[in-house]
Amino acid sequence: MKLVAIVGTNAEFSYNRLLLQWMRRHFSADAEIEVLEISSLPAFSRDLVTSEQDDVLVFAGRVEAADGVIVGCPEYDHSIPAALKSVLEWLSYQLDSLKDKPVLIIGGSYGPLGSARAQLHLRQILASPQIRANVLPGREFLLGHVQKAIDDTGELIDPSAIADLEECFVEFMRYVRAVQRGFGEVRPLSGD
Ligand SMILES: Cc1cc2nc3c(=O)[nH]c(=O)nc-3n(C[C@H](O)[C@H](O)[C@H](O)COP(=O)(O)O)c2cc1C
Repeated sequence: MKLVAIVGTNAEFSYNRLLLQWMRRHFSADAEIEVLEISSLPAFSRDLVTSEQDDVLVFAGRVEAADGVIVGCPEYDHSIPAALKSVLEWLSYQLDSLKDKPVLIIGGSYGPLGSARAQLHLRQILASPQIRANVLPGREFLLGHVQKAIDDTGELIDPSAIADLEECFVEFMRYVRAVQRGFGEVRPLSGD
């Protein structure tokens, strides 16, 4: 299975980036995870011509080619970072990069809530008519007090967080396969 993992910030240092890099190593036997950076992408503007934005087109191509997408989402002012929102606008304006794409949202924060508010906003955004991604339902991975859970070498060292993320990832892989199968055959409505 081939997945891409979007680092939801353009900052040079990010715990969410470390978390995605840890996932790439930890789950390497199950999936090939490519970590994608957003820092080189321009701020979205309708005035820019998408077909002239090489970095955006390369980024979008990687997303489209993947079986599924993981988003590592920090929390800024109780929402998602503006740089991540800008990327979602690129991927959904004149492009359909995330349409029907299975998505797993994860996130860490300095406080206790593990970017919960940002993750809720991200779910809403990904469900918008212009995006229509398939976000893994009924499951979230919230990593509070992220500075304690990830050490200086980038290792996730909290055993309960590791167990939780492992379960979450197994569910996501099942979900990716279910989406690829089209959630099974569509049955006719009763009375048809
Ligand atoms: C502009 C700004 C706003 C922030 N707002 C929040 C917030 O609302 N809630 C929160 O838990 N952390 C907030 N933070 C702190 C951290 O950025 C946040 O916990 C983040 O998820 C850490 O992830 P990162 O290391 O990947 O950037 C804010 C930081 C910045 C720079």
